[in-house]
Formats: sequence, C-alpha cells, structure tokens
Amino acid sequence: MRKRVGVLVSGRGSNLQALLDACADPAFPAEIVLVISNIPGVFALERAEKAGIATRVIPHKGFASREAFDAEMDRELRAAGIEIVCLAGFMRLLSADFVTSWRDRMINIHPALLPSFKGLHTHRRAIEAGVKLHGCTVHLVTADLDDGPILVQDAVPVLAADTEDTLAARVLEREHKAYPLALRLLAEGRVTVEGNRALIRDE
Ligand code: GAR
Repeated sequence: MRKRVGVLVSGRGSNLQALLDACADPAFPAEIVLVISNIPGVFALERAEKAGIATRVIPHKGFASREAFDAEMDRELRAAGIEIVCLAGFMRLLSADFVTSWRDRMINIHPALLPSFKGLHTHRRAIEAGVKLHGCTVHLVTADLDDGPILVQDAVPVLAADTEDTLAARVLEREHKAYPLALRLLAEGRVTVEGNRALIRDE
C-alpha cells in the first residue's frame, strides 16, 4: 500500500511539484492525497489541481490562535487518512501539539545544510558567511524550528560570482531531488530515530 501523504504549502510549490512528479510513478511508495495552503491563490494550489489532487485553503488569519489553526489542519489531514505530512515551503511555525501528534511522520525541507543557517534568508547569509559549500536538508520535524533528525542532505559549491538568486537556483535543483528521496525513505519504513539521528536502513 502506498503511504497517504498530505503536503502543506504557502507559495510557488516547486518542491510540491517535485513530489507530485515522483508520486506520478505508480511504483513510488507514497501518493499525495491532499494539499493544504494557509495562503489563498498561491501557485502551489494550481499545481495540485492540475495533478488532480484535493486542495484546501485554510487561511491562518481567520483563527484566534496558532493552536486553533493547527487543530483545523490536523482535522483535515486525519479526515483524509494522511499518514505522512510534508512541509514544502510552508512558512508558518507549528504548535507543539501538532508537532507531537505527527512526530516521526512529518518532514520539512530547508534550503541550507543544517544545523547551519536555520531560519530565513539562508542563501544571503551563506554568501555573507563566506562558506564554500551550501545546500539543502530534509529532516523530521521536531518542536524546534529547522531542527530534527536529518534524512537527506545535498551540497553545492558557493561560487565567487554568486548572488542570492544564483545560489538559490543551484540549491533548489538539489531540493527537488532530495525531497522525493527523503519521502521514499520514510514511506518505505527505512527510517529509525535514535536521539537526534535518523538511521536509514540499507544505505
Ligand atoms: C524552498 O527553497 C524551501 O526549501 C524553503 O522555501 C522554498 C519554497 O519553495 N523553505 C523554507 O525556507 C522553510 N524554512 P517552493 O514553494 O518552490 O517549494
């Protein structure tokens, strides 16, 4: 049985697209059944609709608290029988209860080699820091922002002529490979967590 996946988005959805493309192969061990956006009208929703995937818009502004917003997302995910949640450019912090209830079943992609450059503007900060390697990380989500056991990382060189945009584009290409790989590993049940480490079977 393919694992039922829900994807949370807030924007253009290029990582969602990479996951949709991977799941289009019937041999892939997961299928996307629901895409939730906290922002109406974003391109990620169009991508989902084009692929024939159910979408929900849950505007966070309509809720009195983060907890109430997360509870509504949780209801939708459970109603759809979701087993794995993927954050794909979802730009909202999640409450402790939500994170706990999806523990070891929720993954995030971050545009940096964690634990370096948590938070926003990672490419600009990498250039300013003068690092020679930069990249992306897919990790299990824990209560701390951009933290949690790492499933997949990929690195790219930082070139002398790089701008934020050229570096972002180089990293994004790798994101689109790393995210489907991480989802595959989790969906195949090959991930066990020991403390801060994710151990991957047969790797
Ligand atoms: C991606 O680069 C993703 O890694 C980043 O937002 C972008 C979303 O692009 N996520 C974060 O910064 C989360 N901390 P996309 O909507 O085209 O996938």
